[in-house]
Amino acid sequence: MKLIQTRQVHGTIRVPADKSISHRSIMFGALAKGTTTVRNFLYAEDCLSTLKAFEDLGVLITKHPDGMLEIEGVGLDGFKQPIHPLDMGNSGTTTRLMMGILAKQPFDITLIGDASLSKRPMGRVMNPLNQMHASITGVNESEFAPLTIHKNDTLYPMEYTMPVASAQVKSAILFAALQADGTTLVHEKEASRNHTEEMIRQFGGQIEVNERTISITGPQELVAQDVTVPGDISSAAFFLVAGAIAKNSELTLENVGINPTRTGILDVLTQMGANLAITNVDTQNQAADLIIGSSELEATTIEGEIIPRLIDELPVIALLATQAKGVTVIKDAQELKVKETNRIDATAMELQKLGADITATEDGLIIKGPTALHGGQVDSHKDHRIGMMLQVAALLTDDVIELTDPEAVAISYPHFFDDFKRIATNPEQTL
Ligand code: S3P
Repeated sequence: MKLIQTRQVHGTIRVPADKSISHRSIMFGALAKGTTTVRNFLYAEDCLSTLKAFEDLGVLITKHPDGMLEIEGVGLDGFKQPIHPLDMGNSGTTTRLMMGILAKQPFDITLIGDASLSKRPMGRVMNPLNQMHASITGVNESEFAPLTIHKNDTLYPMEYTMPVASAQVKSAILFAALQADGTTLVHEKEASRNHTEEMIRQFGGQIEVNERTISITGPQELVAQDVTVPGDISSAAFFLVAGAIAKNSELTLENVGINPTRTGILDVLTQMGANLAITNVDTQNQAADLIIGSSELEATTIEGEIIPRLIDELPVIALLATQAKGVTVIKDAQELKVKETNRIDATAMELQKLGADITATEDGLIIKGPTALHGGQVDSHKDHRIGMMLQVAALLTDDVIELTDPEAVAISYPHFFDDFKRIATNPEQTL
């Protein structure tokens, strides 16, 4: 596909709903007793994998014409044995959280996924859950999908120190801990997104968080709630970078989630000198409007504790750094290698094709700027965030950029190209 060509962006975008919270709204809705309503659910491929998996487990989910969802919760022991393997599609979040949710069921369940998902490491979830007396195996004794969650009638609590900063691993353990007899302690070295902890509380559960230690005592019953999902800051990130790197531009992004475990990109934009304002803060729903304008950017170093707070935004932050004065260094981001694709290599390879001065390292990227970009033939690597980053890169050249596998954007943002077209200004028309 030929990417949209424009040098300027203007206007207002309401980015789609948060992917992490949308997945969890179905999961908690299914596990709670009663009817949960979800407003502003993300109808994108990843979250639909979660929705379908719960339907296959016998959970009744009604999709109203206005987009609202109603989930008839079945509790922790109300699932029906699915008649075929549950298809996780491309979704690592669905797979890993399901392993915790389904760790204590009276029947075997198999999880399958697409080619990318079947290469992603699952030992990081299988191992701690199996320590709790779950029995989860990968194909041919590997850690890879297809995975079988064997029937199991007991889960033990445990004390666990997270070897990697991963909200997916943490969440899987917390879902299992809700079903275990006794108190589970999870120690995090670096804070990862805390939506699961917040939603356990929202659904009437008991959970304590002290510094980096989470304490949860099972078994617990959850109670249905009304959930309103805010916009996804990880989707807003593409427009934040677009507004900052395009000349004579300004964008307003409405109702963006600003949970502090997710806002690393706002800190980096500020650090780099971007023209960013945060307005209309809604503390109740942890959301705000973000206004971004063309910016004179300075290079920075991104490392350590901030990494989990912007992990999904790093490909587009690397693009941002190509327009900053100096050398930007991204370190401690080796987790990028095990995302939907190896995002360190894919980001470096694709931006190099367009003329960027960017080098992949063992745990990150080194980017020298500012550089002018040019056209070329690029590839999304079937990764939604790489595809969207490359459309934003197209703002920096008048040349044609052809993108292979653009449809990957539908994983998190099905209308991304339509929204981008809407804010694209044809410079000729503005003269
Ligand atoms: C997610 C956690 C992160 C993130 C992913 C969504 C979640 O993954 O990259 O897009 O919803 O819990 P890790 O837990 O593997 O870091």
